[in-house]
Amino acid sequence: MENDFSIYERLAALARSDVYPYHMPGHKRNAGAGLPEGFAQLDITEIEPFDNLHHAQGILKEAMEEAAELYGADRTYFLVNGSTCGVLAAVSAAAAEGDTLILARNAHLSAYHGVYLRRCLMVPLYPERLAEYGVYGAVGADEVERLLRRHPEAKAVFITSPTYDGFVSDVEKLAEVVHAYGKILIVDEAHGAHFGLDERMPPSSLDCGADLVIHSLHKTLPSLTQTALLHVKGSRVDRGRLERFLRIYQSSSPSYLLMGSIDLCIRQMRKHRREWFDPFFERRGKLMKELSTLKVLQVVPDGPVTEAAYAGSALKYYDPSKLMIFCDGAGISGVELQRILLEDYHLQMEMAGANYVLAILTVMDTREGFMRLSAALKEIDAAMPSKEQKAGLVTGIGLTCQDEFLSAVRSVQVQEERIPLAQAMDAAGTEKVALECAEGRMITEFVYAYPPGISVILPGERMTEQMIALLTGYRERGMTIQGPEDETLRTIRCIKEG
Ligand SMILES: Cc1ncc(COP(=O)(O)O)c(C=O)c1O
Repeated sequence: MENDFSIYERLAALARSDVYPYHMPGHKRNAGAGLPEGFAQLDITEIEPFDNLHHAQGILKEAMEEAAELYGADRTYFLVNGSTCGVLAAVSAAAAEGDTLILARNAHLSAYHGVYLRRCLMVPLYPERLAEYGVYGAVGADEVERLLRRHPEAKAVFITSPTYDGFVSDVEKLAEVVHAYGKILIVDEAHGAHFGLDERMPPSSLDCGADLVIHSLHKTLPSLTQTALLHVKGSRVDRGRLERFLRIYQSSSPSYLLMGSIDLCIRQMRKHRREWFDPFFERRGKLMKELSTLKVLQVVPDGPVTEAAYAGSALKYYDPSKLMIFCDGAGISGVELQRILLEDYHLQMEMAGANYVLAILTVMDTREGFMRLSAALKEIDAAMPSKEQKAGLVTGIGLTCQDEFLSAVRSVQVQEERIPLAQAMDAAGTEKVALECAEGRMITEFVYAYPPGISVILPGERMTEQMIALLTGYRERGMTIQGPEDETLRTIRCIKEG
């Protein structure tokens, strides 16, 4: 780098200078605006001599090159609207109107929104179900090959790896298959921005041959919310088209607070990752050792993904930054465990599933933080009746609601007939139907819990009896559902029949 000042240092220098702002933002860098200290002073968009994100030629160009070098990408783009806009741009660049995309069924909503906006056709790709935990695991190369053979018209394959829960696919194998058919492989690695930055972490999909990779820096690295990266490798992706869509989906006034944070995160990773990952793995190892003594609560065991643990599965790695804590054996729901951890121990989890809670662990976690989590879980565990005493309630890991979810999704999976997602969403003749009476009806809405933002049923799919049972269960448990017009799930919008 010619001039080694970080973007934040440049912003601070501007704040100290006597340059008066006759430009946006409207707070005019004035502390009197009442924003938290430092915010207004550092918050600018593209003024001279700062660079323009959509036409980067100066400090942003250099910073994006640094990011590309760190991750081994040919080109990296800063994203100020999260992985959401990276996923939208990736889908849009890979598939035009009427094109076909093979899309993993557990994709984040943003991928389906991309399909909707581009009005492309979607072939669902079902990841494996991990019997041990009853959750979505990896995407199998055989299944991808089967779909590619059946759909030679497909332009690209889109997968999510790691999953929200931390399960990582064999991207190298998938890339070989996808490229053998001359298609593009897009990996939504939103939860894996730390991959490849340390040899104890799984490799980044960029190193495994993916063409487009999306990283949410804010999820697992020290960076502000909404900061993310889109990486390109190789020549399969039309970069002109990709950049056109980034201009469409990203703000024309990107915040330098966010871009400065991306720059700082990349600099820190370049300089300090060994200093940060060493203590992380040491603390995490200790935490996992302590949690291995839990009797009722259970965590996904530490260590490499072995043949024995996941026999016959396509799973390649488990992400060390995820900690799933299952509570089936305790006879309480994940939502209840999450409540106990927050109210009694002031520990806020990332997400509660029906039978587990999910914690995210990063290099910024403190020794004290891990000690508090370990002590809390041990105390909760000790206060719970043992499995033997609670025999009636023991369901075993994964045999509860995640399985209900997957089996409901499978009941929809067997349908051959579906209409394109965009056509269902924009259908003119629709009506609200009582959920209980909707069996066999074509749905026009997404239905999802956030997080993780994976739709249970998709527009264009037909409602099944099992799906109705699942959604009725969600309604009865008071789960917060988003997507449908009627969020109480008493009714669901369907295409009018007859
Ligand atoms: C797998 C996956 N992809 C993409 C996104 C969107 O990321 P962001 O919140 O950075 O826009 C999420 C968000 O949770 C996600 O889980």
